[in-house]
Amino acid sequence: MDNLISIADLSTEEILELFARTKELKKRKKDGEKVIPLLPGKVLGMFFRKPSTRTRISFEVAMFELGGNAIFLSAEEMQLSRGETISDTAKVLSAYLNGILIRTFAQKEVEDFAKYSEIPVINGLSNLYHPCQVLSDYYTISEKKELQDLKLTYIGDGNNVCHSLILGADKLGVKLRVITPEGCQPKKEVVAKVKNKKNLVLSERPEDFIPDSDVIYTDTWVSMGEDNGKEKKLAKFAGYQLNSKLLEKARKDLLVMHCLPAHRGEEITDAVIDGASSIVFEQAANRLHLQKAILATLL
Ligand code: CP
Ligand code: NVA
Repeated sequence: MDNLISIADLSTEEILELFARTKELKKRKKDGEKVIPLLPGKVLGMFFRKPSTRTRISFEVAMFELGGNAIFLSAEEMQLSRGETISDTAKVLSAYLNGILIRTFAQKEVEDFAKYSEIPVINGLSNLYHPCQVLSDYYTISEKKELQDLKLTYIGDGNNVCHSLILGADKLGVKLRVITPEGCQPKKEVVAKVKNKKNLVLSERPEDFIPDSDVIYTDTWVSMGEDNGKEKKLAKFAGYQLNSKLLEKARKDLLVMHCLPAHRGEEITDAVIDGASSIVFEQAANRLHLQKAILATLL
């Protein structure tokens, strides 16, 4: 594993090794080891073109708790904003840093950074993928349920999180049902990467998949950078909200997930996100432990 650009690039073994490392690092912290110095003197650059709460802060804290350091690089304050090329930037940053985390719009920008960098590149979200989120989410589920043949239902927009869930499910033997309105389906180029096609169902009917779901996952209907045409897009999602009525026929041990930030009252109601089935804050908390495993593996 040289970079973390997409879950498609990881083998099942590599993912399971990350999970084992996450479990160990989480336990050691719980047992009182505040700093586990696996990365002394190492520095992570964190280049962001979009806002972030969880990704930015969990990576920054992860570096501190591994004995290293992190530098936040705001896109507007870099010479990139004045036209310096990605290749020149990547070459220069490779001389200073030991790894770089990138949150941006185009997946190609993450890939270009990886092409010109001599240091590991981590995708902290692009319009196409959100691999760190989804690795952490499958880890969170694995703490509670067997992943093999798990029935996971994603209800919402066929976005970056959905794309990474699709790729992760394929690697981990999860039966994934992706329920989106017409016109909001995941990209064909991502679906085409799935090897075990019988484990992926695409549908427009949320109610058909509620009763047998082990986990139901949702995300915002309008992702960062999509604000143009927001109202028109939101109108497509009537009937797709995770609310008590939709979940009436769900199993008693259903788990509800959301990567956050949530738009309460849109894709999910307060009653569901704050209800007994919700594991969204455990999900968010595990980002820290999974990020550490990624950093310790790559840097
Ligand atoms: N889930 C997630 O990536 O959150 P942030 O946008 O706050 O980083
Ligand atoms: N799909 C969302 C995820 C945020 C973490 C977005 O891209 O805005």
